[in-house]
Amino acid sequence: MPSYTVTVATGTQWFAGTDDYVYLTLQGTDGCSERHLLDKPFYNDFERGAVDSYDVTVEEDLGEIQLIKIEKRKYWYQDDWYLKYITVKTPVGDYLEFPCYRWITDEKEVVLRDGRAKLPRDDKTQILKQHRRKELESRQKMYRWKEWHPGFPLSIDAHSHSELPRDIQFDNEKGIDFILNYTKAMENLYVNRFMHMFQSSWSDFADFERIFVRISNTISEYVMQHWREDFMFGYQFLNGCNPVLIRRCTEIPKKLPVTMDMVECSLERNLTLEEEVKQGNIFIVDYELLDGVDANKTDPCTIQYLAAPICLLYKNLEKKIVPIAIQLGQKPGPDNPIFLPSDATYDWLLAKIWVRSSDFHVHQTVTHLLRTHLVSEVFSIAMFRQLPAVHPLFKLLVPHMRFTIAINTKAREQLICECGLFDKANATGGGGHVQMVQKAMKDLTYSSLCFPEEMKAKGMDSKEDIPYYYYRDDGIKVWEAIKSFAEDVIHIYYESDEVVCEDVELQAFVKDIYVYGMRGVKASGFPKMIRTRETLAEYLTVIMFTTSAQHAAVNFGQYDWCSWIPNAPPTMRCPPPTEKGTVTIEQIVESLPDRGRSCWHLGAVWALSQFQDKELFLGMYPDEHFVERPVKEAMAKFRKNLDEIVNTISERNKNKKLPYYYLSPDRIPNSVAV
Ligand SMILES: [Fe+2]
Repeated sequence: MPSYTVTVATGTQWFAGTDDYVYLTLQGTDGCSERHLLDKPFYNDFERGAVDSYDVTVEEDLGEIQLIKIEKRKYWYQDDWYLKYITVKTPVGDYLEFPCYRWITDEKEVVLRDGRAKLPRDDKTQILKQHRRKELESRQKMYRWKEWHPGFPLSIDAHSHSELPRDIQFDNEKGIDFILNYTKAMENLYVNRFMHMFQSSWSDFADFERIFVRISNTISEYVMQHWREDFMFGYQFLNGCNPVLIRRCTEIPKKLPVTMDMVECSLERNLTLEEEVKQGNIFIVDYELLDGVDANKTDPCTIQYLAAPICLLYKNLEKKIVPIAIQLGQKPGPDNPIFLPSDATYDWLLAKIWVRSSDFHVHQTVTHLLRTHLVSEVFSIAMFRQLPAVHPLFKLLVPHMRFTIAINTKAREQLICECGLFDKANATGGGGHVQMVQKAMKDLTYSSLCFPEEMKAKGMDSKEDIPYYYYRDDGIKVWEAIKSFAEDVIHIYYESDEVVCEDVELQAFVKDIYVYGMRGVKASGFPKMIRTRETLAEYLTVIMFTTSAQHAAVNFGQYDWCSWIPNAPPTMRCPPPTEKGTVTIEQIVESLPDRGRSCWHLGAVWALSQFQDKELFLGMYPDEHFVERPVKEAMAKFRKNLDEIVNTISERNKNKKLPYYYLSPDRIPNSVAV
């Protein structure tokens, strides 16, 4: 009688093993096996990390094995099991791999297909077509869209992390408990003694150093020492943790009535302001989005304030970017002066602090939350709903969706919910952040997620012209590496543009993102359909770049750039100054966050900047969803390209006081998970 050797690999994470009964059925083109209990006598099967083999004898030849059904039945109590993969050696010596990489919970079962990726058109038999359809039906029941706030991209329909499907939960929920992590961070940083000291101001800048005792970080120390300098202020627009707002100014906006007299002493080329603009030496950052946003009112003892500044910057003869004028409100007028570097020291310093605070808000809520976390969640839900596990694009994308829905659900549960942790120290807490996301949706266009296009649109693409923009330089390299990888994979499975058009699952995935993520807004420029391999490569690059590189660029520098409180105040406790010549150091300190808020802020930026244990960085794909050699070769090429980028960046950073490493691929996690 024919005998198959079946090998079963159990996951290595905590509680991956099971004591439950496991049954296996082989389904072939010529028949179906009996249901076999996988059990070796006097042996504890399916322990964590185990790879166990079993002989399965059948009555008659089953033909080509198409599906494997695995059923788990209770032994003593329900014992979840993480099945990595199954391999089958057939009686004629063929070797088949069946990737799973899923939890099997309760008395559930999974039906696996062999690991060769297939498009819908490749499935000729009824049994495979049906399997494909059933998998999507069951996923669509589990992964449902829900509107968290009006106008937001839709998110997952779950109130808490524990409600999520087991497959997308964190392995260890405690590890991502925000309250626990922030408190731990404050203890680690030795600042927890300040955590209840709300309304208690620091006495001067040096006093802030008291919460800075445990810093051993080159960049944050450098920030502490140089944060007042105009060079440092300008540098952060290019290479800080929010390097996405600066753009070339093609015309001074009417709402910022800067005159030549005001900026003459800052300009170095003997040109008028108009000429400088024409030559491309003037840059602008406009925080218009913050105009009209309600400041946090959740603590009646502390009135908090927001501003909506406009900052004009200049590329000096050294090609460095420095600020030359700041207006703190959008409406020009006598009570909204334009602050200048030539003003009294504290006037200028406070104006810059207001810009830094505004930058912090836009960074957290728009650059970070909306444009990486929420967008990645959309990609993730659409993928689970529309792409079956056998689809090549599911296999390609699933590593880039790891823990994203989970972290966002946890954030909605504890951090950015009503009365969440975010309200404690942020001026946009208590609902302001919701207004900001709603407003920022209009700028969330497809082209703005295409990194090279976005750089061009902002007039920031020329390396020769703007030489110290490492975020751009490294971002382009990583973008190109991802795109080339996407192209390689696409060419393996899509032999022509027609095949792309005919892939109904891909088209449903793209449509879901447009309809539920972008809310069907045509102006978003998100495609409703993909017609060519070239546009598909770009689309997949947008997804993989956003979930990995873009998030890394704006997430992991938070501690570096925001831990020195005066450089990134999460709230301001006095209104913006309305006249010049009155600002004192006391007023600045009174404006800045109190001891309690500083402490919570520090805990937050520290916790948010940490990599996970056993982090999977860009291009690391330990779960082998793909089994075909050409894809493995494409992955190897991708990793080689990434290694080269790592080396180039490390060479560039040598001897730099301010190295830029957020887009070094060895520091870019595959997915948004923190
Ligand atoms: Fe993040």
